[in-house]
Amino acid sequence: MTATADRTKASVNTAAIERNCLRLRSELREGVELCAVVKAEGYGHGAAQSARAALAGGASWLAVAAAQEARELREEGVRGPRVLVMGALSPVELEEALAADADVVVWHERDVEAVAAAGGGRVHVKLDSGMGRLGTRDPDEASRVVAAARSTPGVEPVGAMTHFATADDFQDDGYFARQLDTFTRWVRTVKAEQPGLVVHAANSAAVLRDPEAQFDMVRCGIAIYGMDPFRADPSDRALEPALELSSYVAEVKACRAGESTGYGRRFVAEHDTHLGVLPIGYGDGWRRGLSNNADVLIGGRRYPLVGTVSMDNITVDLGAEESAERLRGERAILIGRQGSERITAEEVARRLKTINYEVTCGLAPRVSRIHHRDGAPGEETVVHKDTPPLLRVRRV
Ligand SMILES: Cc1ncc(COP(=O)(O)O)c(C=O)c1O
Repeated sequence: MTATADRTKASVNTAAIERNCLRLRSELREGVELCAVVKAEGYGHGAAQSARAALAGGASWLAVAAAQEARELREEGVRGPRVLVMGALSPVELEEALAADADVVVWHERDVEAVAAAGGGRVHVKLDSGMGRLGTRDPDEASRVVAAARSTPGVEPVGAMTHFATADDFQDDGYFARQLDTFTRWVRTVKAEQPGLVVHAANSAAVLRDPEAQFDMVRCGIAIYGMDPFRADPSDRALEPALELSSYVAEVKACRAGESTGYGRRFVAEHDTHLGVLPIGYGDGWRRGLSNNADVLIGGRRYPLVGTVSMDNITVDLGAEESAERLRGERAILIGRQGSERITAEEVARRLKTINYEVTCGLAPRVSRIHHRDGAPGEETVVHKDTPPLLRVRRV
């Protein structure tokens, strides 16, 4: 599959990712390392390109969720930094992660045995201090796992970690503080036994919320892409959105009062107007929940999306003026800036009653990713899992 970038494309400014990392590093205490989370294709931005930009911005570790993602980073030439696979691993995936020279997460003694059986590797022990997902809730078990890793040939205990459930919620009745306290107390005991462990807990929200959560390393995803972990305007915290989603006006047609557009006739014109048709739809990740519920920037102005989002097209109301005809062929911005107008992933998320993470992660493989540095040409990447990596990057 080759990319047809004119149709719908996500332009990713890797220089913005680099600056967001520098911005996050400015929050960090002396010596605290930044781990850039590039799972889910770098939250939709392209994993390898985001990783390289983050490393240029001062990140020294990378994290992904799946073994396959670690392997793909290595295949795409990201060889230097440590890569942590944070997710659960089946036996086959464990072998894949270790073969990619990635660190893995463990929380039972049997996990340590599995790592040893798979040939050995570097492990991070996870305490579930309150997220209620992966990790052990029992600090004594977590300590036994550290000890088991230390005494098992071929297994190296490298890290001690946890994950916060409510770092992005200031009205959490003290839950974040309690998790932090639980983790801090456990870490004190394991660090006494194993001082070299890299201790890490904070995601983007925690970094921006409480310096006490930093420990030896922080794991940031959303903020490195310039999106706000608290669902606010990213510029409030000097974050710079890296991704612009654009399409173009492929057709303009008159629409008389009483005529409709799209499936189910969910828009019927109340007065004469013009419709613009843009080749983007839920097949691109522009979700159906945006039917009659989004704006698009064309020529620096906001126009409302009208009617139902279909798989491959949306329609916008371009207004009654004859000049609407001249918008045929114009670029249309769905996420990003045009003139003085701006549509953020946070705005789209609010309309969909979801979070910014889901908006960019949900962009489909069909959307070409164009990487650039502040407008200077970079590379076009088709994020398509079935295509061999070497075919996936094409210079523009
Ligand atoms: C275990 C873990 N750590 C860190 C992160 C990064 O979080 P954020 O994108 O909020 O910075 C994630 C992302 O979901 C995660 O699952």
